Amino acid sequence: MANQYDVLGKAPSLEDLNKLSSSDVHLTIRGLNAGYGKMEILHNFDLTVSKAQSLCLIGPNGAGKSTILHSIYGFTNIFDGKIELEGDEITKLTPAQKLSKVGIAYILQDNSVFPDMTVEENLLMGGYIKDKQDEAYEEAERIFQKYERLRNRRDQPAKVLSGGERRLLEISRALVMKPSILLVDEPSIGLEPRYINMVFEILYDLQKNEKKTIILVEQNAKKGLEFADIGYVLVSGQTAIAGKGDDLLKNPDVGRLFLGG
Ligand SMILES: Nc1ncnc2c1ncn2[C@@H]1O[C@H](COP(=O)(O)OP(=O)(O)O)[C@@H](O)[C@H]1O
Ligand SMILES: [Mg+2]
Repeated sequence: MANQYDVLGKAPSLEDLNKLSSSDVHLTIRGLNAGYGKMEILHNFDLTVSKAQSLCLIGPNGAGKSTILHSIYGFTNIFDGKIELEGDEITKLTPAQKLSKVGIAYILQDNSVFPDMTVEENLLMGGYIKDKQDEAYEEAERIFQKYERLRNRRDQPAKVLSGGERRLLEISRALVMKPSILLVDEPSIGLEPRYINMVFEILYDLQKNEKKTIILVEQNAKKGLEFADIGYVLVSGQTAIAGKGDDLLKNPDVGRLFLGG
């Protein structure tokens, strides 16, 4: 069926994707067909991301952006295709294995802080995986050192946090396991504008200073593409355009369809 997104054209070639992420490849997805139950949402989907690179997925509601993150983390049915981390296949690992063995963390889209637990208790929930508890405690200390906003509220119930601080806690909870890849679903959703910049500054620091690889879904396409090194525009479970964030911001079709321009 024809629709307004048809102007965006056909899927970029694997060669095009690889050019955007040419050095030190961290994660690849090849020919992925995946979905929920028997329903296929992603069709022959490819992705390449380098170490310490940030990739933003944009596109209309229901395009399958969250499903890409779910597939990387192990929440979907994978019918076909391969996911590799530094050349090792991880397609069928469980979420717990993704987190503890290969260092992929998923930051929930929904408000997932427990309001009556303290900030510290919430943070330590991120280290629930038994064999890494000592490391998790050490990492939690490091996080308190780094983020004064959390340190000051360490023993208070999380419900006292502002929206922005809550999002910081959600991100920090994922950091407790010292992941190398962060999957971030709509970090700006539900936040007041003044906190949105704060969240992107935190992600920027994690990418630039802690060398995390970041795969981000963002409905605020402008913010997402300004932040990310590269972007994929997803339509109906397939990539319609891939490019550098700056180039996508200048692309007239992207502007008209996703940037309100
Ligand atoms: N847990 C689920 N079970 C069944 N279908 C789902 C589930 N999550 C998402 N879907 C469906 O998958 C499609 C893609 O959804 P999603 O990846 O959430 O899109 P986006 O994040 O781009 O808005 C939609 O048609 C949605 O209804
Ligand atoms: Mg989504």
